Amino acid sequence: MLASQGPHAESTAGIAWLLFAGGTAIFAGVLAAIWLAARGPAGARDVLAREGMVLAMGLGLPVATLSGLLVHSLRTNAAIAPRDPPALAIEVQGEQWWWRVHYLDDQGRPVFATANEIRIPVGRSVELLLRSGDVIHSFWVPQLAGKLDMIPGRTNRLRIQADRPGVFRGQCAEYCGGAHAMMAFHVVAEPPAEFEAWLQRQREPAAPPRDAEAARGRDVFLANGCGLCHHVAGTGAMGRFGPDLTHVGGRLHLVSGWLPNQRGSIAGWIASAQHVKPQNRMPSFTQIAGADLRALAAWLEGLE
Ligand code: CUA
Repeated sequence: MLASQGPHAESTAGIAWLLFAGGTAIFAGVLAAIWLAARGPAGARDVLAREGMVLAMGLGLPVATLSGLLVHSLRTNAAIAPRDPPALAIEVQGEQWWWRVHYLDDQGRPVFATANEIRIPVGRSVELLLRSGDVIHSFWVPQLAGKLDMIPGRTNRLRIQADRPGVFRGQCAEYCGGAHAMMAFHVVAEPPAEFEAWLQRQREPAAPPRDAEAARGRDVFLANGCGLCHHVAGTGAMGRFGPDLTHVGGRLHLVSGWLPNQRGSIAGWIASAQHVKPQNRMPSFTQIAGADLRALAAWLEGLE
């Protein structure tokens, strides 16, 4: 939060520093007045005790300071929520306990879905439409913007912009039930050309299995009913309840930013989902074991 990486976060950090500095100056002034009143020379005590001084310091100063702060924060607010059209609009919906992400077209219709990772082009202002599918969550990427609540039945709009490429960690900032602390995500800022290439790939259906093991993994996935909750475009898995897995292999993390995305953690997650993230909606698939589990992980890892 103190290392902002974009203009919106910078404006918010500016207000924070102003408040820290102003609060420190006022605190020092109050201490000095107390010292003068208690131990200072008689003349200074007389000045402090005058009615005019009490009115100026007790009424005039707070009114002037707070009015100035109000004007400054309204201006900052206008800068953080600009009216010009954004380069891109993305819908992010909080779920217990993960993030459902839809990239939208110019008319606001969803083009494709992903989860727990938001890719944006560097240097462009991106508008996030923040919603909730269940309870109140709070969307927070400290390096890119201030936090904003996701409230059921409402859409809150938040602008983010990254000035340099990088991976910025985000976290749900409102207690939302058991696994709240494990509800993280990442914003990945890429140069515009790379971002466009990524967008293009995301629109395509899942890659065909690379080899016999991956094909076996796909069959294990379909045979165990994974497709009832998960969508994998081009395979017949049409579930909408859990994260879209069409390109899950291309994400940096698994389990809402919790595990690195690699074959071992994919297998561990499937077999022990309730142990890794207690109370989450996915059961531990202990019945899939050995070669089947490895094949399933190999197939999912290949879905880039
Ligand atoms: Cu979602 Cu805390």
